[in-house]
Amino acid sequence: MDIETVARQLGAVSDTPRPDARRLIKAAGDDEARLQEFVARRLRGEPVSKIIGLRGFWKRDFVVTKDVLDPRPDSETLIEAVLRFYPEKTIPLRFLDIGTGSGCLLTSLLDEYAHATGIGVDISPAALAVAACNTKPFGKRIQLRTGDFTASDFGQDWGVFDVIVSNPPYIKTNDIDLLAPDVRLYDPRVALDGGSDGLSAYRTLAACVGNLLAPGGRVFFEIGQGQGDQVVSLMEAHGFSVISRDRDLSGIERVLVFGKSTPGAVVSG
Ligand SMILES: C[S@@+](CC[C@H](N)C(=O)[O-])C[C@H]1O[C@@H](n2cnc3c(N)ncnc32)[C@H](O)[C@@H]1O
Repeated sequence: MDIETVARQLGAVSDTPRPDARRLIKAAGDDEARLQEFVARRLRGEPVSKIIGLRGFWKRDFVVTKDVLDPRPDSETLIEAVLRFYPEKTIPLRFLDIGTGSGCLLTSLLDEYAHATGIGVDISPAALAVAACNTKPFGKRIQLRTGDFTASDFGQDWGVFDVIVSNPPYIKTNDIDLLAPDVRLYDPRVALDGGSDGLSAYRTLAACVGNLLAPGGRVFFEIGQGQGDQVVSLMEAHGFSVISRDRDLSGIERVLVFGKSTPGAVVSG
């Protein structure tokens, strides 16, 4: 099948039929049967990334499977925020990525900071297996850990970090069934479900990140649309101040940056 034929078929399910067709054709190589299988899966609503097993994020292609959230362009707002706060690229920052999934955030950050190291933690061993593929080029600079941020001993032996990043699950449980099928059916529920108000992960993280943050360190959270004020309140209750509120390319508030409140201190980006 040529690109026109494939794109025409995909027009029934996709807003981007030509780029989808191009990627499926490239991934199928010369194998026509494989291409037909890929097209059939796309027509059933499966995202191209999950079909071909790769998704672009920041500067790399990441391996993705059914066990990890597809990295989203919105999450690049978080990388941009870190870069703005830490413009000196040679500093040996220590990162913690809570809910690392595919490892896309931590990997992209270590791509930018050549002397940085980091720990990526996730509750899902299957997600960590995917992260292990994606973080392999970084050798010992990245360590992956199985961990549950709701556990009382979370991060106990890990020391402290200059930068903590997290894109935790933040969809309200009752809203998950309303999501588009390519999210609802193909991203893992554990990556989406933020509890009844969507904020349960932030509630827990607000209480534990302080113990994991080095003096002067900063916390970067991705948030869902309209969650900003509530997440700021949760963090303020644990002695943090919000120092930046960043919007994604659609103009939606997407990333909050926090530092520990020190009376009289001026924290600037
Ligand atoms: C929204 S996904 C983010 C994945 C990746 N960081 C990204 O930005 O694409 C949230 C991740 O948090 C993990 N997670 C959910 N609950 C967790 C918990 N209690 N402890 C640790 N990780 C958890 C999920 O397995 C999932 O990989």
